[in-house]
Amino acid sequence: MSKKPDQKLIMKRKAAAEALKLVKDGMILGIGSGSTVREFIKLLGDSKIDSKTIVCIPSSFDTENMLISNGMKVGTLNQYPAIDMTVDGADRVDKDLNLIKGGGGALLREKVIAAASKLLVIIVDDSKMVQALEGSFPIPVEVIPHAKEFVEKELLKLKGTPHLRKASDKLGPTVTDNGNIILDTDFSSISKPEELEKTINNIPGVMENGFFSRKLVAQVIVASDKEIKILKKE
Ligand code: A5P
Repeated sequence: MSKKPDQKLIMKRKAAAEALKLVKDGMILGIGSGSTVREFIKLLGDSKIDSKTIVCIPSSFDTENMLISNGMKVGTLNQYPAIDMTVDGADRVDKDLNLIKGGGGALLREKVIAAASKLLVIIVDDSKMVQALEGSFPIPVEVIPHAKEFVEKELLKLKGTPHLRKASDKLGPTVTDNGNIILDTDFSSISKPEELEKTINNIPGVMENGFFSRKLVAQVIVASDKEIKILKKE
């Protein structure tokens, strides 16, 4: 049974509060995107942490605005290319802690920030947890507009079914913060996710895809109605 939206928000806030315990004065903090991260930013802004000592590196325009509205100091990845910790959400998390991300279209910058971080902490409510990623959520593939038709054909060859993501408040496609489009691609079978990640990224015209390997992930904080679980790699 699906949970009521307000209950889900409470769970997102619980996961965000747990991640806040890991933040220390003086950190360079990567900040992901999405509704769970928004809860984290609100808590960060209201916390007793000395916000003047923390620099936040946003992964999207939305996150940057949210950080500024909550009184946080914002920097660029070019100024701070070594990030202490990044806090981000996810669309799906499998039992091995591999992720699908990019439901909010911020996957490219999110992956760069994750790769530049010593620690990637993922915050989710328990509806995001799945046994296996295949069939659970389409893999978002960020593509330069020039290459749309070509990349679609290549994804079909990989047995994916791509769908151009539409904008909701404008005509035409969703355009990412990087000026690209997104092909949400269904794969009914993903036997080797890390190989698929590389194969997709090798198609000329693809900028990045939303498969995030467990190699990037330090821990996943999962909030449910009853409890908070902290999942770490074995
Ligand atoms: C943004 O592009 C995504 O990677 C988000 O991290 C992901 O969609 C999770 O968002 P929610 O917290 O809104 O579910």
